[in-house]
Amino acid sequence: MAQLWGGRFTKQTDDMVYAFNASISFDKRFLEQDITGSIAHVVMLEKQGVITLQEKDDIVKGLTAIREDVQSGRLEITSEYEDIHSFLEANLIQRIGDAGKKMHTGRSRNDQVALDMRLYVREELLAVDGCLKQLLTEILRIQKENLDTYMPGFTHLQKAQPITLAHHFGAYFEMFKRDRLRLKDIYHRVNYCPLGAGALAGTTYPLDRYYTASLLGFEGPTLNSIDSVSDRDYVIEFLSALSMIMMHLSRFSEEIIIWNSNEYRFVEIDDAYSTGSSIMPQKKNPDIAELVRGKTGRVYGALIGMLTTMKALPLAYNKDMQEDKEGTFDAIDTVKDCIVLFTGMIATMKFRPENMARSAMRGFTNATDAADYLVKKGVPFRDAHGIIGRLVLTCIEKEKAIEELTLAELKELSPVFEADVYDEISLKTCVGKRLTVGAPGRAAMEDVIKQNEAYLSVDWQQ
Ligand code: ARG
Repeated sequence: MAQLWGGRFTKQTDDMVYAFNASISFDKRFLEQDITGSIAHVVMLEKQGVITLQEKDDIVKGLTAIREDVQSGRLEITSEYEDIHSFLEANLIQRIGDAGKKMHTGRSRNDQVALDMRLYVREELLAVDGCLKQLLTEILRIQKENLDTYMPGFTHLQKAQPITLAHHFGAYFEMFKRDRLRLKDIYHRVNYCPLGAGALAGTTYPLDRYYTASLLGFEGPTLNSIDSVSDRDYVIEFLSALSMIMMHLSRFSEEIIIWNSNEYRFVEIDDAYSTGSSIMPQKKNPDIAELVRGKTGRVYGALIGMLTTMKALPLAYNKDMQEDKEGTFDAIDTVKDCIVLFTGMIATMKFRPENMARSAMRGFTNATDAADYLVKKGVPFRDAHGIIGRLVLTCIEKEKAIEELTLAELKELSPVFEADVYDEISLKTCVGKRLTVGAPGRAAMEDVIKQNEAYLSVDWQQ
């Protein structure tokens, strides 16, 4: 057991208590953040005359060497230490002696861990954003290639009106675009430096918190030392944004699972992204989409877990807050994996335009347009609605699409029908005429795609 405290204790910590209390098994992820934060801290301490130039140089060199040794595998982070902070300090003192004992001057593990978590979340916000950008790039490519790929649009999972694949994928483009905006928004709230808040009440050393903040690339220091160590809002916000991303991915996955089924055959998931069954030789299962859908649960779990941990915590730091890490790490890893795999899956997936178009035709998705045709010829809309309703019944009886009826059959229902009806209710016309902003008509889609291309060409940080 190597720990940073013990002076006031007369007994050794019970082994189980030690293990229960320790966080090294998971906060070892903070090696880089803890070293970066510590270097900024001692650079500031030296500038303020709290430690000497020699001491600062020794600490920086020592920390850099520890980083190299851990990276190369020469030094292992073991459970002998309570947490990553103790590991680094103990190793530093071993290497450089007394100067190492000054690293923690004017600092508490409370502001130290708050800093590590902020640095970690800040970096991961960018990483998740990068994954989303790749996904959006892939969606846009598929959109551009499928402006004339007709398919049924659904409401209540019932075929409703004809759209295109580009239009359907465009809906997901907008969702993931909003997700990126949320990440950006959170980034600006995370980006304040809690270091220098001490345990909760600041410190009597003349720390320059603005300087430390700028060394670490923050917009500034946090402005209340109690809040600095007790705030985990940004973790909850990030988990909430991650949950929303999973909700979107899960809806998309669900559709792909349906589209990949034998009944639909709108898409075929590539062999590399499917798995077989141990008993049924014919099976090719959409496991990746199912797993993405399934993993949504654990990300929501992390969000609810963290909200519950923080509920009713008195100010300032409480050990409960150590629970902010495992669920958050898991959620971040899960979401990044899901986005990357999902992107690969849609990038390699084959579309079956013939099946989509057949499904749109057989599903009476042009019924509204057929009614509009009659309206244009002078039939009041409510009457037209009734006529087309009866027409659909006839089609169901005859197992035909509307456009497969002869003109004579159509005229039986309304003498208003003329030969031009076939052109007017074709999928091409039905979609082509929908030209309001955001609609599936070609010109409307092309305009949106141009806007989204411009959006993708700029990085959020700029
Ligand atoms: N392992 C702790 C955490 O993750 C670090 C802060 C400990 N502070 C303390 N006063 N025990 O929250």
